[in-house]
Amino acid sequence: MDDLTRSRERINSLRDTLNYHNHRYYVLNAPEISDEEYDRLLAELKDLERQHPELITPDSPTQRVGRAPAEVFGVVEHPVPLLSLANAFTLDDLRAWWKRTAELVGATQFTTVCEPKIDGLAVALTYVDGLLVTGATRGDGFRGEDITKNLRTVRSIPLSVLKNAPPRFEVRGEVFLPKEGFKVLNERRAAQGLPLFANPRNAAAGSVRQLDPSVTAERPLDIFIYALGWAEGVPLPDTHWEIMDWLRSLGFKVNPLITRSRTLEETQEIYDQWIQQRAEWPFEADGMVVKIDSLRMQDELGSVGREPRWAVAYKFPAVQGTTRLREIGINVGRTGSLNPYAILEPVKVGGVVISHAALHNEEDIRRKDIRIGDTVIVQRAGDVIPEIIGPIPSLRTGEERVFHMPTSCPVCGFGVVKPEGEAVHRCTNAACPAQALERIKHFTGRDAMDIDGVGEKLCETLFHAGLVKDAGDLYRLTKEDLLQLERMAERSASNVISSIERSKERPFSRLIFGLGIPHVGQEYAELLAQRYTSINELAAASTEELTSLPSIGPKIAESVHAFFRQQRNLEILDKLRNAGVRLDRQREKASNAGQPLAGLTFVFTGRLNRFARPEAEARVTQLGGKVAQDLSRRVSHVVVGDEPGAKAERARELGVALMNEAEFLRLLGED
Ligand code: IVH
Repeated sequence: MDDLTRSRERINSLRDTLNYHNHRYYVLNAPEISDEEYDRLLAELKDLERQHPELITPDSPTQRVGRAPAEVFGVVEHPVPLLSLANAFTLDDLRAWWKRTAELVGATQFTTVCEPKIDGLAVALTYVDGLLVTGATRGDGFRGEDITKNLRTVRSIPLSVLKNAPPRFEVRGEVFLPKEGFKVLNERRAAQGLPLFANPRNAAAGSVRQLDPSVTAERPLDIFIYALGWAEGVPLPDTHWEIMDWLRSLGFKVNPLITRSRTLEETQEIYDQWIQQRAEWPFEADGMVVKIDSLRMQDELGSVGREPRWAVAYKFPAVQGTTRLREIGINVGRTGSLNPYAILEPVKVGGVVISHAALHNEEDIRRKDIRIGDTVIVQRAGDVIPEIIGPIPSLRTGEERVFHMPTSCPVCGFGVVKPEGEAVHRCTNAACPAQALERIKHFTGRDAMDIDGVGEKLCETLFHAGLVKDAGDLYRLTKEDLLQLERMAERSASNVISSIERSKERPFSRLIFGLGIPHVGQEYAELLAQRYTSINELAAASTEELTSLPSIGPKIAESVHAFFRQQRNLEILDKLRNAGVRLDRQREKASNAGQPLAGLTFVFTGRLNRFARPEAEARVTQLGGKVAQDLSRRVSHVVVGDEPGAKAERARELGVALMNEAEFLRLLGED
């Protein structure tokens, strides 16, 4: 076979493979290979096409930047095409790019700008006379989708720019979901039984390409602007760096991490630092974009196809990997939930060895068709628990086993039930030791009583030694008790005792949260602590009374009521009381006075975009304000969200101050 024939065959096979994976990624949302593997295949195809330009066809995967625009959205023509970026995977790749660039511009020295490559969705925003008129996706680079209405809901996109803006210009940037927002969105979806997004990128893309902008508005999207597309009627600065400064001054959000560098070594140092730090960044980034700073040099260098020669994406190590799912284990949670988790053959993903991953619940395992023994794709996103994206069915051997939830609790052997309408299975034994231990861990945890030095490990040791059977026993521990334990020295024993002692004065809301009442998270605990002055008062509340509180539905009310009717819980409270743990909010009351919202009472009506209602209410109470359900003369402000109810109208009649969401956020100091 001659070289040309061999190349033609390889090119055809690469195209088929890439098209297949494109479809899995974009259409089915079920990738089989990691982004890095995909990029490598694409790089090989590009290389072959460079050697044999006569074999390039218009439908080759190398000839398109992204998906063609969908019919449902209007089409926006990009006057200046949106380009893609060439990749560098290693320092050698970057060195080669640096050397080639230096030769092409005939300079030994040049400045570059290093920017995090955000993993989101590229958009182009056009402003005319200072107003945002069009927002579009990249599409195929020449024509994108008109998603103006959706982008208008993204808070960090200015709808108007004030100072000396050119009469017409376009900026480009990446819309993304911050890690925290992604987590919250998936938690909300899990609670609603909706399929979860695999990563922030998919979630951002899905959110922006919604037909109903109000859905987009509920997603906490953000943007970083990384380029000026074009501008009419103004002289422009000489460098990309100055352009970024100027755009920032016009009100655009530019990534604060962007940095200038002058040598390859300096660039590599920044890259190494970023790899170390990126787990702490609030957004996902999959690499570092290195751009030539001088706009004159950028012009000189131009592009090859869709890729500018003046920039390169220096990719971070992959955060996805593939490995074998050895077994599915079960953890029993604090409320008796049976939580499956994956036991994996250890694999290095993004520099970290992973041997366990989250598996949510049985339905999720079924939906993804994950079987024991499968080769699976695992993903590590920042500091969150690694997750299984899905199996690679083509690698099955026939030996794989379908997973079934056990019918009895793996810890205590009692029966397991799946309550109607819930996704989780639960152990039916209220005295299950696994639950008791988890409740102790929860009580001592950072968000609850925050008992420093009593971590999960020590809880386990104390529990198994029979020294602590419930949270109340913690306060009966003596130094002598602790000294019996292995590896417990005099000094640490004293520290543990004094931090348990200090926890007696924790705020009332933390205590309520720490009790682990089913369905009562931090925000509801805050709300209850605001309403009731002591645990006795809360324990005496009827279900009807609890249900009448703002945001408390029958499920939570019943759960709270039932909690205080269980002998076991009353015994724990007795132990806490006898030990002198604060079970009321006496002392905090006095400190309320200096807080920003002290003396103000808020009523909410309509939907807020930034927060869910309980969260907004919790913010108010955290800042010393009060929340009321109904209008009265005591109410100082009515916060009016989207589609408000009759309360807004009544407030107007009563002459109570109305405020919109933006004003409310400003008051909270969150705008
Ligand atoms: S510059 C020619 N800067 O990466 C310049 N792109 O693979 C192209 N991206 O479509 C864009 N962060 O969506 C640039 N700081 C950044 C970026 C960035 C993310 C995305 C962008 C682009 C893709 C290129």
